[in-house]
Amino acid sequence: MTSIPDAKAPADEVVLEAIGLTKHFPVRRKLRDLFSNRKDAVHAVDDVNLTLRRGRVVALVGESGSGKSTIARLLAQLYPRTGGDIQLHGESTRVKGGAAFRRYCSRVQMIFQDPFASLNPTHTIRYHLTRSLKIHDNAGKSAADLDRALHELLQQVQLTPPERYLDKFPHELSGGQRQRVAIARALGAHPEALLADEPVSMLDVSIRLGVLNLLRDLRDRLNLAILYITHDIASARYFADETMVMYAGRMVEGGDSETVTQSPAHPYTKLLISSAPDPDRLAGGSDGAAGDAGNGEPPSLIHPPSGCRFHPRCPAAMDRCRTDLPVPLQIGDAPGHWAACWLYDGNEKAEVAK
Ligand SMILES: Nc1ncnc2c1ncn2[C@@H]1O[C@H](COP(=O)(O)OP(=O)(O)OP(=O)(O)O)[C@@H](O)[C@H]1O
Ligand SMILES: [Mg+2]
Repeated sequence: MTSIPDAKAPADEVVLEAIGLTKHFPVRRKLRDLFSNRKDAVHAVDDVNLTLRRGRVVALVGESGSGKSTIARLLAQLYPRTGGDIQLHGESTRVKGGAAFRRYCSRVQMIFQDPFASLNPTHTIRYHLTRSLKIHDNAGKSAADLDRALHELLQQVQLTPPERYLDKFPHELSGGQRQRVAIARALGAHPEALLADEPVSMLDVSIRLGVLNLLRDLRDRLNLAILYITHDIASARYFADETMVMYAGRMVEGGDSETVTQSPAHPYTKLLISSAPDPDRLAGGSDGAAGDAGNGEPPSLIHPPSGCRFHPRCPAAMDRCRTDLPVPLQIGDAPGHWAACWLYDGNEKAEVAK
């Protein structure tokens, strides 16, 4: 059914890779700082590695302000990066708008949290999808080609029969249907990768599963690489092949979703899981694991904690956690399971693994 030309590319082929990706947002200087050398910055993303492969979903999980959206925007080339690299099929990319940006967008598309805000209320679904097809040169040569492509897009997101939806305005659709239109618009580019930033968090709980199932179906049918950003680590287990956990701008744990969610290693991941489905409940939490983890406040990203950024909240913090930046360490036997936590370094390992 798909006309995407390289949907037959080998599954697991690396599409997009972040290597040591870093983003610091400069903080506006106050008058009294003008004469000093102080240059404060929000350390939103530091030294992040991430690989998106064809036919696989990677979940990026973490509490509010941990840098998830910044990573998605960097990968979409909406922000310039401060450091590190973004490689598309192994080639370093730095895109600053214009034709190069359009070419990049035809391979990497973003889906936002709020489908209502991302669709123009004054235009019909037909307009939104036609525009996407035309911008990315996928509208064909004739009116009949365009019509076929529009029908195909709506069928791909299971809005059928397509004629029922084409001439509707966004406000005439439900939230779930709007998000499906936003996904169809992204598919109009015939992308290889989708960056979905909390694609279901604004939707009614009852329809979230349907949209996640649709994305999973697209992963399989179109062989898409998908980044799924979420607060909800429980949905990562259900939906993603791989899960990466982020805390205060740094990756703290990663591995296949089953292992990370069922046998978490990093104290922060354990905390997230014990407070699932909404990690934001950590803030000010007074019971259970959240209470054990200190005051539950995320740290300042202008002056992030030294050593491990999680140490002020970590129930297992040791002296070296305050000074030494943890390196990713292999955990157990599960292939690809790692955590950036000193608990797993050398002798302490056996003690913590129990
Ligand atoms: N344009 C910007 N200028 C300055 N600081 C920014 C900018 N965008 C994000 N930040 C800061 O970077 C940090 C990470 O923000 P980001 O939006 O990436 O977090 P998030 O994990 O997506 O959070 P949420 O779950 O609330 O969406 C936050 O401290 C935020 O205030
Ligand atoms: Mg965000």
